[in-house]
Formats: sequence, C-alpha cells, structure tokens
Amino acid sequence: MPPLPLLFQPLSVRGVTFPNRVVISPMCQYSATDGFANEWHFSHLSTYARGRAGCIFFEASAVKEYGRITHGDLGIWSDAHGEAMQPIVEFIKSHGCIAALQLAHAGRKASMQRPWFGNGALNDEDVQRGDRPWPISAPTDEPLDDGWLKPSAMSATDIADVVDSFAAAAVRAEAAGFDVVEIHGAHGYLIQTFLSPLSNTRGDAYGGDRKGRMRVALEVTEAVRAVWPEEKPLFFRVSSVDGLEGGWELDDSVALAQELKFRGVDVIDCSSGGNTPKGATNASIGRGLGFQVPFAARMRKETGLLSQAVGLILDGPQAEEILQAGDADLIAIGREALYDPFWALHQAQEMGIDDAFSLWPEQYGWWLERRSHGLRKILDTPH
Ligand SMILES: Cc1cc2nc3c(=O)[nH]c(=O)nc-3n(C[C@H](O)[C@H](O)[C@H](O)COP(=O)(O)O)c2cc1C
Repeated sequence: MPPLPLLFQPLSVRGVTFPNRVVISPMCQYSATDGFANEWHFSHLSTYARGRAGCIFFEASAVKEYGRITHGDLGIWSDAHGEAMQPIVEFIKSHGCIAALQLAHAGRKASMQRPWFGNGALNDEDVQRGDRPWPISAPTDEPLDDGWLKPSAMSATDIADVVDSFAAAAVRAEAAGFDVVEIHGAHGYLIQTFLSPLSNTRGDAYGGDRKGRMRVALEVTEAVRAVWPEEKPLFFRVSSVDGLEGGWELDDSVALAQELKFRGVDVIDCSSGGNTPKGATNASIGRGLGFQVPFAARMRKETGLLSQAVGLILDGPQAEEILQAGDADLIAIGREALYDPFWALHQAQEMGIDDAFSLWPEQYGWWLERRSHGLRKILDTPH
C-alpha cells in the first residue's frame, strides 16, 4: 500500500487533532441579520462537514457591532451571537470535523456594501434598502479612498476597548464549542491597517516603526491567548505583503510571525493584499496557482510556526505537492469549496485512496460504493 497522502493524514496541534489537512477558508456570506447565524449559515457550513473537510472556518465574525464589513456579516459581540452559532458547531463536530471561528474587526473597511450591491461605500440606494452607514474607526481619520467614509482616529482607550472585545469574543467562541479561533490580521481590516505604514501614520506608541505598528496585533493576540484554552490552537491570518509601493513586506510578516509565536500563536495563515479600495484581497502581485504558497513556506521555515497556505489551490495533487515540499502544514480552499463543497472527498477519490467510499458519511457512502461497482460492471461490458 502506498503511504497515505499527507493531505489525508491527521495533524495534531496542542490538544486538537485535525482529521486531515483540508481547511475551508473563512468566507463571508453577507447573509446574516444583526450579526446572527441563521439557516443559510447552517446549510452552507454543514455541507462542508458532510464533505469531510478537516477544519471548517466560519466567516469573519465581528467582535464589535461597528466592526462589521457589511450589514450581512456574522458577529460575535454578544453571548446570543455565540449561541446562534452553537448548533452549527455541534453539527460540524458530530461529523468529526474541527469547527473554527475567525475573529474580525473591519476598521475603515466597515460599513460597506455587500459585494453584489457594489462592494463600495454605502450609498443612497443602500440606505433605501435599509442598509444605513454607521460611524467607523481606524488608526487615523484617513478614509480608504475618495468617496469612502471618514473614520475617527482611535484613541488608546478605543484600542484597549477593541482588544478587550477580541478577548470577549474568544470566550464566547469557547462557550459555543469552537476548537480553533483565528485573529483576522489581513485584507485591509483594522489590524492590518495598524500594521501597514501606508495606513498607519500615527505618531504615538501604536504607530511609527514596525514595533509600534505591530503593537495592536500583539496586544490582541496576548488578550485572546490569555482566555483561549491552552489545549486549543490559535491561528493568525496575515496579509503577507500589502503588494503596494512602500507597504508592508514579507520581511515584516516574518518578524510579526516570530512575535506571534512567542505569544502562543500556532498557525500562521498566509494571505495577502486588501489594503486598498480595489477589493478584499487586491494587491499588485502576480496571481498564478498557489501564488501565496511562498509566503507560507518562508514564514514556516524561518519561524518554526505551522503554516496554512491559501489562494488558487485547485486540486489534491497541487495541495499534496505543497505539503510534501514542507511549504505548509494545512491547505485552505476558498472558492474551490464554493464550486465543490465535497472537495476533500472528491480529491480522495481522484487520488485513489477511498475506493470503498469509507470517508463519506455512511448515509451516502454505502450507496456510492455499490453504485461504483455496478457502474464498473456496466462500463466494462462490451456493447
Ligand atoms: C465569498 C468569499 C468570502 C471571503 N471572506 C473572507 C473572510 O471572511 N475572511 C478572510 O480572511 N478571507 C475571506 N475570503 C478570502 C478567502 O478566505 C481566501 O483566502 C481566498 O478566497 C483565496 O483562496 P481561493 O483562491 O481558494 O478562493 C473570502 C473569499 C471569498 C471568495
């Protein structure tokens, strides 16, 4: 028997064992009302449990009401929000998968249109629909661009309040049963805008040199780690590079990752871009297959952190190559999972490791194995 591909081997991090290396990347559905998970979220996320992804991320969930990107974002700013997520978490875990939550604050990219209404600043049409803008906050009062809301520059007290909100959200995540939380430090949202010299021009202890600009990210991490159970993994998603002239660079991310490791982060989740009005993850960098893998590889190699690769990873063999090369420990898929929610199971078929459909839920696998035998006989019979 050839060895099981790494993609389908378990991975233990602290006290949590991921059944395989397939992670469903956090993906906003813009479908919540008042931040609460509903039937859409249940249906969307539970499908990935039936599809046997090792770890299933809930979308960016706002730690404060005003930290949502849009009116449709999930939130976890009250206990009731966590309670609404709990049945989904239980379903995911009942299928042997790991339930993960991304904790987020949108900063100056808060109060936006849902993508299908324009993906820009809220306008009169949105207000007529009931989506009213709200006051937003950021490192400085510089808006994302002309025509975008002007944020208020956060005071040290505002920052402390947000740090506390991340910790309170982690406590709620634990109560809801999540086994992983991730701090969203990417894509032009609050934490990344503090990291990047392009969006953080503050003159106080939260700005200036890289140490000052990293301070919010590190304070949030310390606060979350202090309340997040010792036996549960903590992820941090970074925009590895801004992909903009004069912006945050890969060397900066390596330095940040090192500091995060000292503070108890286990996995660095390596995305990029987004610190622009042009899109959630826009960056002026080439976008080929696996274009962000080199970021995950370098951070893993230089810090000893586990890394998660994401971005244009399309199939099992590509994922396996990344894992075998030692470039990453976990493989996150986003849009491929929208296209094929049973991606993990289909890749296991394609890679020839599950002829008996034994990885599938028994409600499906029992039938599919018999169907497969039957089909083989039919197709092998000469006509
Ligand atoms: C619909 C959608 C929503 C997304 N929402 C989030 C999010 O909530 N948090 C986040 O960090 N990234 C978000 N992303 C980015 C994905 O997690 C992922 O990094 C990106 O899609 C690249 O991976 P892919 O090429 O496999 O799609 C989103 C992407 C999509 C397509």
